[in-house]
Amino acid sequence: MITNIEGKVVVITGASSGLGEATARHLSALGARVVLGARRADRLQALADELNRGGKALAVATDVTDRVQVKQLVEAGVQTYGRIDVMVNNAGLMPQSMLERLKIDEWDRMIDVNIKGVLYGIAAALPHMTAQKSGHFINVSSVAGHKVRPGGTVYSATKHAVRVISEGLRQEVKPYNIRTTLVSPGAVDTELPDSITDPDVAVTMRKFYDDIAIPADSFARAVVFAMSQPDDVDVNEILFRPTRQEF
Ligand SMILES: NC(=O)c1ccc[n+]([C@@H]2O[C@H](COP(=O)([O-])OP(=O)(O)OC[C@H]3O[C@@H](n4cnc5c(N)ncnc54)[C@H](OP(=O)(O)O)[C@@H]3O)[C@@H](O)[C@H]2O)c1
Repeated sequence: MITNIEGKVVVITGASSGLGEATARHLSALGARVVLGARRADRLQALADELNRGGKALAVATDVTDRVQVKQLVEAGVQTYGRIDVMVNNAGLMPQSMLERLKIDEWDRMIDVNIKGVLYGIAAALPHMTAQKSGHFINVSSVAGHKVRPGGTVYSATKHAVRVISEGLRQEVKPYNIRTTLVSPGAVDTELPDSITDPDVAVTMRKFYDDIAIPADSFARAVVFAMSQPDDVDVNEILFRPTRQEF
């Protein structure tokens, strides 16, 4: 039996598709109250409406590059459900390209969403969790947070940063009984490769994903595993790949 999920208030960024959406569905089915953040408000609301038929879900249009909006997302969850138990910092994008292409706007975007978005999520949730003396951060890195390959330099840098931020956070929140989990997926079938604008990289990546990517529920199950441990067990890192993925 899965324990420690029912009734928890879980804020999820990037919940309008892919890993975030799958996690919202999975946790909702297990009785969690989910607070969904992303920019595409129509998709977010449709998901919240669907989940609300069996459980409790709230949609809050959120751009994670705006710290005020991230704070409003968390505050909406706390106002509606009275607390925040888990903050899933998941929103991200992966417009990979070789540095020589100088897609500097995309570098900026990845830094803003993948790094600053995570920091804003921490800033919004941490005061509530320290006051409660309980909570759980689940930050999404990647295999690219452990490795770097040509074309993936900036994306890998952002995902390495998420790993470092998570480990620093883990150490700092010891007095507050807060857990921290870093989840680093390999290729999972989502809209993520659609953020690639370099035509050569897009074709290669699409083929790679078509060949080996596994369903998004794989990630949701990793989140459930970390959340469902007893409160004195802090699962700090989960790295998983499709069984067929070499790198
Ligand atoms: N799929 C994989 O193979 C894989 C592997 C390793 C790590 N990851 C990581 O997993 C996370 C989720 O990605 P995914 O695979 O589920 O891709 P996805 O289907 O493209 O989902 C990305 C999510 O992030 C949201 N997002 C993007 N920019 C945002 C912004 N400025 N503000 C708020 N939300 C924003 C998107 O929502 P809106 O567009 O509606 O805002 C969407 O809900 C990312 O951090 C990604 O790096 C994925």
